[in-house]
Amino acid sequence: MAVSQMLRLTTSAKLNLFLSVLGRRGDGYHELQGIFHSVDLVDDLEVGSSDNGDISVEVTSADGGNPLPEMTENLIYRAAVSLREHTGVERGARLRLTKRIPIGGGLGGGSSNAAGALLALDRFWELHQEQATLMELAAELGSDVPFCLAGAGTSLVTGRGEQVAPLPPPPTLLWFVLGLSDTPLRTPQVYAELADDEVGIEQSPAPMTMALAAGDVREVAALLSNDLEAPALRLRPELEARKEGLIDAGALGVGLSGSGPTLFGIAASRSDAQSIARKVAGGFDRVAVVCSTPSCVAFL
Ligand code: C5P
Repeated sequence: MAVSQMLRLTTSAKLNLFLSVLGRRGDGYHELQGIFHSVDLVDDLEVGSSDNGDISVEVTSADGGNPLPEMTENLIYRAAVSLREHTGVERGARLRLTKRIPIGGGLGGGSSNAAGALLALDRFWELHQEQATLMELAAELGSDVPFCLAGAGTSLVTGRGEQVAPLPPPPTLLWFVLGLSDTPLRTPQVYAELADDEVGIEQSPAPMTMALAAGDVREVAALLSNDLEAPALRLRPELEARKEGLIDAGALGVGLSGSGPTLFGIAASRSDAQSIARKVAGGFDRVAVVCSTPSCVAFL
């Protein structure tokens, strides 16, 4: 296949502006209600032909900072195998990922890589699978993969994560400061740390949905909530002071992304976000200024 037929795409990190854990399920998962919001911290994915019909995945880190997952563990590889098994297609592919989204940071990077791989290989292998089929394969790969595959940058996510209802993009970009840690937190550990009285607290996503629709950044900041924050902070007590550091630096509100340890502060503007980032840089392993992006996966 000619080089021109190589596919290039980006897959985004996401933040949870609202995450309510409604209950424990018999299958080891939790019933959720969440508002997920994609931001422009992205990994680059390239799909090209393989010489021998195999699927290969090459991962390089854009900053050289993070440990990289074993190939067999890699969600991209699993996405490719699952699509091949489901459709019976016998073609191979060479996938190359340049990683910027920290692994194990609660930013959904691996999930967005998997969604990108499913969408890209569906095109590359000319499979034309139904969206519903790709959503089912996505849910098997991980609870956050369907959100990313569904296409919208902001969605209301329910069930285990597999039910995705796109929300309109906010009328203005939201600006965030990410406070990153190089020490990952394992999602199952954070869920296991949830106390019984931290599950099933009655909360509605409607106020956050309305604040987003109105583009009311102060209201969005005031409404940030994540039921995984208390258990994550018990596991990583140093996050409490970093949260306060973001507020002291001028963030309108601070949230935990997914199961952490990434914290994010909301800012009124890009320049405010840059100023906050400068002030808190010493308190985190790394900081990044990011903004809303209209879709999790973008073909270039
Ligand atoms: O689906 P995924 O592999 O991303 O989930 C990782 C872990 O997070 C699960 O093994 C489970 O411990 C936890 N989880 C959960 N309920 C969800 C999603 C994830 O308990 N809805």
